Amino acid sequence: MAVGQLIRTEVDLDRLLAQVIDAVTEAMQADRATIYLVDWARNELFSKAAHLPEIPEIRLEIGQGIAGHVAQTGDTINLERSSGDPRFFETIDHQTGYATHSLLCVPVKDRSGDIIGVLQLLNKHNATFDHGDEALLRALASQVAMVIETTSLYAQIRAPTTIPLHYRYNGIVGQSPAMRRVYDVVGKAAATDATVLVTGETGTGKSLIARAVHYNSPRRSYPLVSVDCASLPVTLIENELFGHERGAYTGADRRMIGKFEAANGGTVFLDEIGELPLPIQGRLLRVIQERQFERVGGHRSVSVDIRLIVATNRNLEDMVARQLFREDLYYRLRVISLELPPLRTRGPVDLEALAYHFLRVYAERHSKPVRRFEPSALKRLHKHPWPGNIRELENCIEGAVVLAEGRDISADDLPLASNNPRMRGTGQSTDLGELTWVQMERRYISAVLRVHQGNRSAAARAMGIGRSTLLRKIRQLKIDVATDSF
Ligand SMILES: Nc1ncnc2c1ncn2[C@@H]1O[C@H](COP(=O)(O)OP(=O)(O)OP(=O)(O)O)[C@@H](O)[C@H]1O
Ligand SMILES: [Mg+2]
Repeated sequence: MAVGQLIRTEVDLDRLLAQVIDAVTEAMQADRATIYLVDWARNELFSKAAHLPEIPEIRLEIGQGIAGHVAQTGDTINLERSSGDPRFFETIDHQTGYATHSLLCVPVKDRSGDIIGVLQLLNKHNATFDHGDEALLRALASQVAMVIETTSLYAQIRAPTTIPLHYRYNGIVGQSPAMRRVYDVVGKAAATDATVLVTGETGTGKSLIARAVHYNSPRRSYPLVSVDCASLPVTLIENELFGHERGAYTGADRRMIGKFEAANGGTVFLDEIGELPLPIQGRLLRVIQERQFERVGGHRSVSVDIRLIVATNRNLEDMVARQLFREDLYYRLRVISLELPPLRTRGPVDLEALAYHFLRVYAERHSKPVRRFEPSALKRLHKHPWPGNIRELENCIEGAVVLAEGRDISADDLPLASNNPRMRGTGQSTDLGELTWVQMERRYISAVLRVHQGNRSAAARAMGIGRSTLLRKIRQLKIDVATDSF
């Protein structure tokens, strides 16, 4: 089987790797395959492509489990029977309900011989893996490495673009006193199972911090399951969270487990909790109090072992006063409460660190040789009256990276609205040559949608945001998808 043939027909790495694992399992008569990649900054492996319908992702510490062992040593491991081998990490089978019998695992090494991942096969049909299989899988692993080496993902694996001050919070930039206080609480919260309420203005990093709590907690090798409460109507969100029994309603032709069950052992992150409809707030309260619930259309109680993190940019206290949010639930949620500081209070050091962080991220993503800001550009960034939203800074730097010619970003490359503080929040621009944020965001999203012929899933992927976030933006910014000339 030639992986190279797939390369010519597929440009999307995720889809390509999914095809690779399908082809590998078929060629080698195995039941399932996984491609793990290393995340050296966190000393972890994560599943990049996997036959894993039960959970969204597997994370293993380097050295943990068979795959972790192979990533650490570079050895091939061939087990006739996984049970009984002390290196085997049974937790994953417990999480998925899948039974691993035989297992073959080889390292994925790049051209210079460094380990960048692991390729693993499970359960050879009617037999065990032999020496021929080992040689074949090693050959396939080197083809997989060649594919990965051609992508920008490879550069990230080799040299993480963020050099974290605090390695545990990889990807979170900022050393201001305000952020240090946040890290301090994240560290303490992570060690416990207490519910965490993350608040802060829009775009201040709430989702990022929620992830940090999970991945620094003892639950890190179990799933983190996120639900955006704003993106679903009442009836669907109930299904999404609690699942349903067969026959719960017309069309429910089989039982479906909900996010709470899918997260068993791990963490449920309820984003935009302020949007959770009142009837469901009551059901959530019961989950918090008893760690139990019923599937929609079911009578039997289901127990789950989960940790809850919630986030909102709304003022819940205010909502409680206006009887839009249950008071008892509010108190249950804010056991640990984490308020993220808006960008404007983080000071110039954080601003510059974030600007450089986004410069590296987007230079990589758009394959541009941009490396630094000209002093005048930095001056301009510092002078700009940033509101709270880091996403605005991020969009600005991405725009500048795209516009920049050569290695430096000039002040003119920065797509900034007027530097006049009086302009803030008006959504207007007096200077026709400059764009407001709203206009810029609108143009950016329209442009990406156009590139993807209006396909919102593809566009969201390209923008690095969730589909539901994109749909929300399209609504907020009143982008007319039908007539916006794609
Ligand atoms: N401290 C930080 N370091 C690096 N990037 C950050 C930081 N804070 C936020 N970001 C980036 O800014 C963007 C917004 O962050 P995030 O989505 O976590 O914010 P949010 O508060 O959840 O926003 P919303 O209210 O819209 O849901 C993301 O791209 C995120 O990666
Ligand atoms: Mg968010």
